[in-house]
Amino acid sequence: MAFPENFITELAERNDIVDVVSSYVRLGKKSGSNLFGLCPFHGEKTPSFSVSADKQIYHCFGCGKGGGVINFVMEIENLSFPEAVEFLAKRAGMAIPEQAADKDAKKRSRLLDANRDAARFFHEQLGTEAGKAAVEYMQRRRISPKIARNFGLGYAPDSWDSLIRALRDKGYTDYELLDAGLVKRGKNGGFYDMFRNRLMFPVIDVRGNVIGFSGRILGEGEPKYLNTPETLVFNKSRNLFALNLAKKSKNGYIILSEGNIDVVSLHQAGFDSAVASLGTSLTPEQARIISRYTNEVIIAYDSDNAGVKAAQRAISILEKLDLKVKVLKMQDAKDPDEYIKLKGPDAFRNLIEASEHQIDYRLGQITAKYDLSSDEQKVEFLKEASELVAKFPGSVERQVYAMRVAQMASVDARLVQDEVERRRKKLYSQARRTVNRENARPEQSIQPGERRLRYEDPSSAMAEEGLIRLLYLDGALAKGKELPKPEDFSSQALGHIYSAIAARLGSGASMSTAVLSESLTNDEMGLLVSVLQKPEDLKNGERSIRDYIEKIKQRNELKSDSTDLRALANKLRETKKYEG
Ligand code: CTP
Ligand code: MN
Repeated sequence: MAFPENFITELAERNDIVDVVSSYVRLGKKSGSNLFGLCPFHGEKTPSFSVSADKQIYHCFGCGKGGGVINFVMEIENLSFPEAVEFLAKRAGMAIPEQAADKDAKKRSRLLDANRDAARFFHEQLGTEAGKAAVEYMQRRRISPKIARNFGLGYAPDSWDSLIRALRDKGYTDYELLDAGLVKRGKNGGFYDMFRNRLMFPVIDVRGNVIGFSGRILGEGEPKYLNTPETLVFNKSRNLFALNLAKKSKNGYIILSEGNIDVVSLHQAGFDSAVASLGTSLTPEQARIISRYTNEVIIAYDSDNAGVKAAQRAISILEKLDLKVKVLKMQDAKDPDEYIKLKGPDAFRNLIEASEHQIDYRLGQITAKYDLSSDEQKVEFLKEASELVAKFPGSVERQVYAMRVAQMASVDARLVQDEVERRRKKLYSQARRTVNRENARPEQSIQPGERRLRYEDPSSAMAEEGLIRLLYLDGALAKGKELPKPEDFSSQALGHIYSAIAARLGSGASMSTAVLSESLTNDEMGLLVSVLQKPEDLKNGERSIRDYIEKIKQRNELKSDSTDLRALANKLRETKKYEG
């Protein structure tokens, strides 16, 4: 997917990050050359998402996400690097250099074709002798042939190579099938079918491409489901099962359930806007995709403890996107599939109508705690309810609910509104104080937001960050210095970023987040940008860079000393053994 570098650089220049971000995020408050807004990648009530016009980068102090304009588009539109490039090229009216576009598009379309042919193969098996077991299983689960056809359900035969043989005949190489996640590679180097003796649910994206599969075991056994691994065209956290069908529904809402079987069962019963996340709990990306198709989500998760917990998580993710969220309360059944089979579609429709708006639900919980005829308790009620309302991001929402609270306590609406806004201001300043405090104690706040990237050795990581920052901002500082190797870095992520930067130093190539995006992961881009955000005095760059290098080397000498010592101690022990 290599795009020519000057193309990427020009692309970034012609898509000003402030313009691009502004079409998704309302950027207000200015501080220096940074604009602030509410982070679109995690829920927050006070802005910690900043965009720098002169550095052309974004960064969220809250969740740690950050990068250049290409990363932003990748994150917010759920696109791969080449797709984001295409998106921005279109936006700026630029033509994609042919070679690059061709190569990547070809590979993707090959994988999509392989998946489509696999889905056909699985579906055709239902009409064969081998497929009988799956047909019987569907009968047992009361899945009709018609709905099986609509969903393109199928059967993966109980064989190591039936799919692989069928697709080889169609001209796919074993490696293509491997890249599509349809086959696996054994220890001896041979290839074998990934899905065997399973009921197959194709996962189809909103454009109608088959991108992967979930395969359920017929009956009891482990693992109950097997899913396509991450491939060039399949990403679990960015797709939803049955959204291709649900997006066509005339219902004004999406039903979010947990299981594939629940979704099939719901559609069969006439609830054609049901979707499920693909064996993960709902991700922010999935929520964002849902929000493109609806503004109301009804959560119909399993009624067990895990389902209730998952629902709570889903609520907080969905609410951040200004979606109306309702929760279905199912009794006497463990999931929608069982409920519908037990009580029928009409009963389920009643549940939908009775489902409660999340805010009313929480307000109801607070109200239930107090006796509003007592003045004392009324005051407590007003405090707690105002605190809840103060956290709502939308000002209209706050007004409406402040009025509702006022009515409930029969007090003047103005009074509650003032109280709510006062509490909101307090929340703001609390948040600001936390950020300031963290900035004032670099040792404490140096840890990246992303857990996976945590620094093992924060004090060395500070020097590593510093070196990265200086080399990025002024590559000439590298001249005449003996630079450390990436392996010398205590943090693997920083080491990787450093090697990407160092590789460009020698060649005199330009440095920008846009060109680095191609070799760094989104996590690493976020980290790089947060590193670049920190203050650095370029006037004293010469001295600082020497200090940083010194510090990194020292740590490594200490480390190798201690390994030497350990080796020595071992040797002594050994000799003692012989002597003693
Ligand atoms: N899942 C998975 N891997 C597993 C178990 C579950 O990926 N080992 C995912 C599947 O997408 C599944 C969903 O989690 O659909 C919910 O799991 P579960 O409730 O166990 O499955 P159902 O589809 O509801 O199947 P059933 O009604 O037969 O229990
Ligand atoms: Mn289930």
